[in-house]
Amino acid sequence: MIKAGVIGLGIGQSHLYGYSKTPGVKVWAIADLEEERLKRFSREYSVPHSFKDYQELLKLKELDVVSVALPNFLHCPVTIEALEAGKHVLVEKPMALNSQEAEKMVKVARERKRILMVGMNYRYLPEIQILKKFVEQGELGDIYYIKAVALRRRSILSPWFEDKEKSGGGGLIDMGPHMLDLSMWIADDFNAVSVYGITYNKFMPVDDLASALIKLSNGATINLEISWEAFTKSQIFLSLFGTKGGAMTNPLKIYQNAGDIPVEITPEIEKGDFTSKIQREIVHFIRCVREKKEPSSSGEKGLRVMRVLDAIYESARTGKEVRIG
Ligand SMILES: NC(=O)c1ccc[n+]([C@@H]2O[C@H](COP(=O)([O-])OP(=O)(O)OC[C@H]3O[C@@H](n4cnc5c(N)ncnc54)[C@H](O)[C@@H]3O)[C@@H](O)[C@H]2O)c1
Repeated sequence: MIKAGVIGLGIGQSHLYGYSKTPGVKVWAIADLEEERLKRFSREYSVPHSFKDYQELLKLKELDVVSVALPNFLHCPVTIEALEAGKHVLVEKPMALNSQEAEKMVKVARERKRILMVGMNYRYLPEIQILKKFVEQGELGDIYYIKAVALRRRSILSPWFEDKEKSGGGGLIDMGPHMLDLSMWIADDFNAVSVYGITYNKFMPVDDLASALIKLSNGATINLEISWEAFTKSQIFLSLFGTKGGAMTNPLKIYQNAGDIPVEITPEIEKGDFTSKIQREIVHFIRCVREKKEPSSSGEKGLRVMRVLDAIYESARTGKEVRIG
């Protein structure tokens, strides 16, 4: 039986649900500053241990895995403490405030031989899984251009999200990890070579609009567009351009030629909600822990995403293209 702990009970609630539905896993401990949340979730999931102080949770010797679902500025220190306490860690996105922090986390996980996975739950959306299969089976040919869009008209968030010290930034650091991870995963290339980016703070103390062109080592380009607040239609999608076909998500459509006739394919897709994609992510995490296997969204991949985010912020600040090592 694997014993799981969850630190932070905002989105962490979905982690609790995910662990509780995963065979061979017991939700063993939770930690949060809010007494109310501790009481409610201890009861709901019959959790044996609950703490206001997450360090008490980490002292539980029998605990095998921990989800870190705290405000961004706590991801690095708490993940490192958990790894050093011998736990495998699933950390929410963004994995850290910047790539320096992410590097430290990856280093400690390697030294302690613990699994470090970043919560890239969008990969587990049924339509994204199907799109990945289309690409892997060569149906779209070589992917050379990806438009990754996550626009919100307005965001309603906990106050720490707008405090740069605690969040590391605005919409870009919040939705950038999802959209970049999806694009780089589908393009099968986590080596970005150059970045040109812009950010705006028109309505918020952190970036409320960001746009970037990211060149990958295989020649593909990602065109990223993110807003937390803007006079626009709220929308989130990927648009893929390949040499044999193209695709758009949400809802998924595939564009190909049948002979010389352009066709549009609508794959059959099961319905999936937010909670079920986090549950699938947790099933993958637990499998990796059991089989001592590197997770698909490993700390190393998360670090590469953080380097791109750092480069976008730097490019926006300097007005220049930034090359990545
Ligand atoms: N993967 C996704 O799609 C997704 C969705 C939402 C949020 N997130 C990420 O999850 C993280 C948490 O976001 P959220 O929306 O749940 O935030 P939130 O503010 O709603 O919840 C954070 C929780 O952490 C608790 N907390 C804060 N400091 C603590 C401490 N020192 N010790 C113990 N508990 C503490 C708070 O009391 C609160 O319950 C963020 O990094 C966010 O980016 C990811």
